[in-house]
Amino acid sequence: MSNILRRGRLEDVQEDKILRYTSSMEADRWLFNYDIAVDLAHTVMLKEQCIINKEDCSKILRGLLRIREEGMEELDFSYEDLHISLESRLIDIVGEEVGGRMHSGRSRNDEVATCIRLALREELTGLLEEIFVLRNTLINLAEKHINTLMPGFTHMQHAQPTTLAHHLCAHEAAFSRDFDRAQDAFSRINLCPLGAAAFASTGFNLNRKRTQELLGFEGLLENSMDAVSSRDFLIECASVFANLMVNLSRMAEELVVWSSSEFNFIELNDMYVSTSSIMPQKKNPDSAELLRGKTGVAFGALMSLLTICKGLPLSYNRDLQEATPNICRSVETVRASVNVMEGMIRTMRVHIDVLADKSIEGFTTATELADTIVRETGIPFRTAHQIVGMLAKEGGKFTLEKIDSKAKIVLEESLSGIGLTETMITEALDPVSSINRRKIAGGPAPEEVLRYLAKRQTDLELDKQEIANLKNIINSAFENLLAIVNEYGKA
Ligand code: ARG
Repeated sequence: MSNILRRGRLEDVQEDKILRYTSSMEADRWLFNYDIAVDLAHTVMLKEQCIINKEDCSKILRGLLRIREEGMEELDFSYEDLHISLESRLIDIVGEEVGGRMHSGRSRNDEVATCIRLALREELTGLLEEIFVLRNTLINLAEKHINTLMPGFTHMQHAQPTTLAHHLCAHEAAFSRDFDRAQDAFSRINLCPLGAAAFASTGFNLNRKRTQELLGFEGLLENSMDAVSSRDFLIECASVFANLMVNLSRMAEELVVWSSSEFNFIELNDMYVSTSSIMPQKKNPDSAELLRGKTGVAFGALMSLLTICKGLPLSYNRDLQEATPNICRSVETVRASVNVMEGMIRTMRVHIDVLADKSIEGFTTATELADTIVRETGIPFRTAHQIVGMLAKEGGKFTLEKIDSKAKIVLEESLSGIGLTETMITEALDPVSSINRRKIAGGPAPEEVLRYLAKRQTDLELDKQEIANLKNIINSAFENLLAIVNEYGKA
């Protein structure tokens, strides 16, 4: 059959290399199932509005179900996109007299915008679920390591002792914000552009509310020009993904460092590592490194989307076709990265003894010693800071005599001692008691971390319900659509 799109106005056949340049068929695989859903919903609505008759509607619906069965591979890839190729296949099956009516009151512009929103909505729901699992794993691991000492770092230098639980909770907190951002983006994706047609809507008496409902959208993207030309929802999502990748990549960086011989804090499970083709002893943290590297895909997609959209006049421009593969690649990378991170965390071995030994290395309890001086003697913090700084510079053991002698220099007084006892010093230098004291909101003290974890569990439970809710809305809309299609599709 001749090309149903080009046959009227244009030369029927395009040179292969030009077709390859302009076609979105390959990238459109991502949209196949959603395009069928959009076609089904539109056809049902056309019939209900008496724009097509019952018999034609039933034939079109059955044709579409058959195309869905046959799959994307059966379509003609010499068309410039999925939408027109699918329509052409329908016309092959049911004839133009019937199939030629499906596109009434519609354009590929509102069609593709609807498909992208449906596909991304599904991906985002999956992503929310995956972030949930990662957060859950972090919380579960944290529960096991409330008392696992480790050095906390600033500037990559040993800073103060903390616990592994406290550290893991910090990552979980970041991922919970990524979760919230994804959820927020969802609400702006879940709006229906269908019925906008090319940009000026249509003179056919379409029922936009009806297709919106059939596809399970929360509302309409009302202005028909905005509906076909806006892709800010893609930029928003790409930015959410980029942020998530930043957080994942930072964590991956820690896993790489922590599994080095210098640190030896953890050992990654064999599943996530590789060895060298020449150095047989090597166990390389490749999955974590690749995650770090794949961050570029997410950043690149965001930059591409911003660039694609920035100079476009209203309304639809073909440039927008280039947006789709970017978001598709980005969401695929991000979802896989969340999964890999979750697995690495869940299966890694934690070297508790090494972490404990290292927790005091580099005088990490210096702050607590200064704090103790302040609490016990009333000396201002800045002065205590100087005294302890001088002790640190000198190195060696921190005895009562040494503290007193430095205090004497700093305070320029001939006092016999500042009033500390050996017990106070021992306690200040003990990482466990230092951590136990840090029990204000958000601190690493086990009792505080326990309280915090209980709260996070409750938050996670709410998020779980929210995901189930979203999935339920989407799935029941599709079930309902299929039930109507089966009903209307009866011969
Ligand atoms: N493949 C196109 C895209 O992804 C579909 C819309 C085509 N519309 C048009 N006016 N050529 O944007």
